[in-house]
Amino acid sequence: MNETMNELKIKPIFNPNGDDSLINRRIINGSTTNLFNLNEIKYTWAKSLYRVMLANFWIPEKVDLSQDTLDYQNLNEHEKKAFESILSFLTFLDSIQTNNIPNIANYITAPEVRTLLAIQEYQEVIHSQSYAYILESIIPIERRNKVYELWRTDDILFDRNKYIAGIYQDFINSSSNTNFARVMVANYILESLYFYNGFIFFYNLATKHVMLGTADEIRYINRDELTHIDLFVKVIKTINQENDNFITQELVHEMFAIAAQQEIEWTNYILGNNIAGMDTKSTEKYTKYLVNQRIVNIGFEPLYPGYNENPYQSFELMSDNSGESVKSNFFESTVTNYSQATAIEGWDEI
Ligand SMILES: [Fe+2]
Ligand SMILES: [Fe+2]
Repeated sequence: MNETMNELKIKPIFNPNGDDSLINRRIINGSTTNLFNLNEIKYTWAKSLYRVMLANFWIPEKVDLSQDTLDYQNLNEHEKKAFESILSFLTFLDSIQTNNIPNIANYITAPEVRTLLAIQEYQEVIHSQSYAYILESIIPIERRNKVYELWRTDDILFDRNKYIAGIYQDFINSSSNTNFARVMVANYILESLYFYNGFIFFYNLATKHVMLGTADEIRYINRDELTHIDLFVKVIKTINQENDNFITQELVHEMFAIAAQQEIEWTNYILGNNIAGMDTKSTEKYTKYLVNQRIVNIGFEPLYPGYNENPYQSFELMSDNSGESVKSNFFESTVTNYSQATAIEGWDEI
């Protein structure tokens, strides 16, 4: 971490002497009044991202899962175990993310960026609701609570959740500059790396024409997550511009290396070589490829030279052509098409 940044300050909720001028506005350590004057925006990317995030609104129950309930009976034991374990992990991630976003938001002094974190928070709740809907529809009641409890009873899952949640907790305990840098990178890792081998498992099932409803739910979640990645890319890069490269490549490499190792270990543990279409080699290739992409996106050198190819390119194509309403480029941190909600340009159109 670069030591030149001023000590991080939590923002007051009532700050009548604050300075909302664009020239003095900062992502952190500014002096905002907290007023949402959204006609005066410094970070113009926030405005377009806001529109994209709103346009992505979706309702989990609109996806029909009745065929998935039947398909589930025909999954083999490895697929059932993977299905439940991945859902358990994703449920934990979205739960903790919902709870952690406000901790970061307390330090964000750009109103236009704060609004995006509010939308992100509610989207993470929708994701949790979608997992509940999937579990309720597909998993027999006697197994359902086991899925929810797996994060406490499975040692490997427990350890990796402890790593990310521990960093979140450290920031609550002490909002030092070091802990802030770590919590920002941890958030970025959660959003940009942790979900993705799990997502691929569902797309892989969909290529076999089973669990298609679940895959559609995942595609909606995936579309939201891409905007969250985009948000954290922008925030991290801007914080670095405004604070003399406060978040360093050294820290990013150190944390991503640990996260990648855990992601590979976990994926091998639940999928191994037991699922047709995915194996330990492709898991390693994909995870390291993603890590490189994510690190380059925030302006640093890749961690794993040579891992430039996505072994799951075919799943990207599959995930794009089975529905007209969810279309996005899953492996880039930019969303390319949003067609679910209609933008309303003026009051007279309502
Ligand atoms: Fe989420
Ligand atoms: Fe997210």
